[in-house]
Parts: sequence; structure tokens; C-alpha cells
Amino acid sequence: MSIGTDILERVAELGRHSDSPDHYTRVYLSAAHRAAARRIAAWMEEAGMRVRVDPVGSVIGRYDAAAPDAKTLLMGSHFDSVRNGGKYDGVLGILVPIACVTELRRRGERLPVAIEIAAFADEEGARFSTSFLASRALIGRFDRGALERRDADGVSLAEAMRSAGLDPARIEAARVDPESLAAYVEVHIEQGPVLLDAGHALGVVTSIAAGLRHTVRVKGEAGHAGTVPMPRRRDALAAAAEMVLAIEKRCSATPSLVGTVGILRVKDGSSNVIPGEVELTVDIRAADGKTHLAAQEDVFAACEAIAKRRGVALEHTKTHEVKAVPCSPRLQDAIARAIERTVGGRALRLPSGAGHDAMVLAEVTDVGMMFVRCGAGGVSHNPAETVTPEDADAAAKALLGFLRDFEIGSPPARG
Ligand code: GLV
Ligand code: MN
Ligand code: MN
Repeated sequence: MSIGTDILERVAELGRHSDSPDHYTRVYLSAAHRAAARRIAAWMEEAGMRVRVDPVGSVIGRYDAAAPDAKTLLMGSHFDSVRNGGKYDGVLGILVPIACVTELRRRGERLPVAIEIAAFADEEGARFSTSFLASRALIGRFDRGALERRDADGVSLAEAMRSAGLDPARIEAARVDPESLAAYVEVHIEQGPVLLDAGHALGVVTSIAAGLRHTVRVKGEAGHAGTVPMPRRRDALAAAAEMVLAIEKRCSATPSLVGTVGILRVKDGSSNVIPGEVELTVDIRAADGKTHLAAQEDVFAACEAIAKRRGVALEHTKTHEVKAVPCSPRLQDAIARAIERTVGGRALRLPSGAGHDAMVLAEVTDVGMMFVRCGAGGVSHNPAETVTPEDADAAAKALLGFLRDFEIGSPPARG
């Protein structure tokens, strides 16, 4: 059996740890999420790693270097998912490095760097709107204000942590000293069609797009659907619908700029009631900061203008913001060399429109990313998301080559 087949069997096994029997959803600290954490920990142990669970529930395995006091090459990705998502998003970046450590140990090899693999407990933030919670905790920049956020059932993040046996008072202890890190490297499914269309199994990520998320509340006036004349209405949903289209229009104007309303909820919605209050989320991304900022300003100005004209109130809260992140040129070249040696040809370099834990790690160390071809037309955040065993095998072989050749650079210390 190939390493790639092994990896895909594990992806399938983790996929069965789902919050729903009908589809794949694994939100932060659900029972399925904790079961997946235990499975990942067992695989890390089998691979010969020492395993710890950090204060936010991330699972971190360590494979020591040839010498004590060596720096650590951190790898990893997340094991939470979006609702009804794809099974490869995140977990591939945990399982491919575990396969590499298994292979190093089988060959009796230790590297000049220690390897740590972080299985991050929350990146998608599907339950509490807390994107990158776990990697932020790992770099010591967790936002304690997030502890008050509540899920759809009214459970706060702090309560959910306590119920899972985690102590919110200890979150600071998740911090890893950036001085101990040589770099962070993440393997991820591409989540788009570029590698597929170009006929490449693997690619090197050059940069990761800037991202922003807001929760927007539109408040109008609830009323009787049969009696309030149309001109007298302050319909929060009609206003929100106009905002959705304004966002789509503004974000269609520039290449690399994208804008999405992924949640639209009518409070106390009923077929015979004029919607009085609506909540929506706005997600805006762009490859560069200037385009991103201009789009944000225009989008929120357009929403304000719509609200004013329709006589509804608008409140918005930022739940997430990340700047565009360049991947380290040194790591890009090293990943490209490893890909070229594994699959031949010239490695394809491409930017990432999706967000990744690497964006957070980039605040404290050099980051590199390897993308793996996404099948089914390049679809992701969708159950059709898929990777072939051959491509998973190529990813493991290329990452192993990268690890065996890894040289500790002297990344500038960052604050
Ligand atoms: C992570 O999946 C993202 O939203 O980019
Ligand atoms: Mn995702
Ligand atoms: Mn992901």
C-alpha cells in the first residue's frame, strides 16, 4: 500500500468523526472534534512522536532532532471544518507530515531540526466566529474578548472550553517561544482549480490573500405582512438583500478581490411578518492590502447608504482581519526544489486566495506552503472536495525530501 493510500484512509477515518451523520461538519470542541483529536494524537504516537494537547485543545506531536537544543520546524494545519465541508481541508496538512515522520523513524533518521506537527483545533471558526483561534493561541496572541462569544445555542466559548476539560485561564500557556522556531510549513489542498487546470500535482504558494470578516446587523421594523402598505415598510431583509448585491457588484470590479455573504439570518422570521431584524456576515479578500482596504471602505459606505435610504439601522462588528502574507522566498525555493525532484518539471507557483494558519505563524516566523491538487473541478468547502492517492503520495514524498534537505536559515526575529 502506498503512503498516499494510507493518508487517504486516514482522511476518510477522520471524516467519520462528524457532528452530523449525514455530512461532514466538525466544529470546535464538539464530541466529534474531541474524538478526532484523540485519533490524531494516537497516530502521532504511533509515528514515534511525543504528544501534548495544548490549552485550547490543539494536538502537538514532537519528533526530536539529532542534537538537543536544535530549533523546531513547525508544520501543521487545522482539524475543525466548515459546515458540510470537504474532508481534506486542513487534515491533509496534519496527515502528510505525520506520514513523513513515520518514514523518518522507519529509516532511523533524525534531522538537524526537531519537527513539531500542530493539529490546530480551530481555524475555520464555524462555531464561534473565531478564525485562527488555535494558531493565535500558539503564538501568544489569543484575543480573550472572544471567550464571551456564543454559539447558535447560546453556549459561550469559555463555557465550551470548560465542558471539554480545558481551562480558559491557561490559554497563555499555549504560547510557543518564536525564538525556538526555524520556520512554519503548511501542506494544504489548493481549494481551487489552478493546479488541476495546469496538470500539476503540487504547487508552491507565493502569498496568502488579505481577509476580513464582519457580522452585520440590519434593524428595521417588524410588521404585519398583510396590512402595512409597501411604502411604509422598513424591511430589514429587503435592505440586506440590496446590501448583498452591492457587495457582489463592488467585489466583482477587480481581479483577486472577492466578497461573500455566507450567512443571512432573519430574526424571528415568519412568512406573514415583515422582517424586523437580519444578521449577515461579510467576507472580503484581496491579494494586496490597498485593494482590500479600498473595497472595505466602499462596501461599508454602500451598506450605510442603503440603510439610510431605507430607514433601517446598521451595526457591524469585525470578527476577523488578516493582512496579506508573503511566503518566505527561501522556503518557496526549497519547496519548489523538493517538488521538482519528486514529480519532475518546473514547480508551479501560485498565490492562495484561501486563509491558512500560516498567516498567523507569519507574524512570528518564516512561513512556506505546499498546495496539493484539488480534484472535482477544484471545488472546496463542499463535500465534493477530493484528492487522489497519487497526489497525496507525491505530497508526502516531496515534503519528506524538503525535510531531509532542510537547512536552518537565520530568519529575522519578529515581534
Ligand atoms: C479558510 O478556510 C478560509 O476561509 O479561507
Ligand atoms: Mn477551510
Ligand atoms: Mn483550511
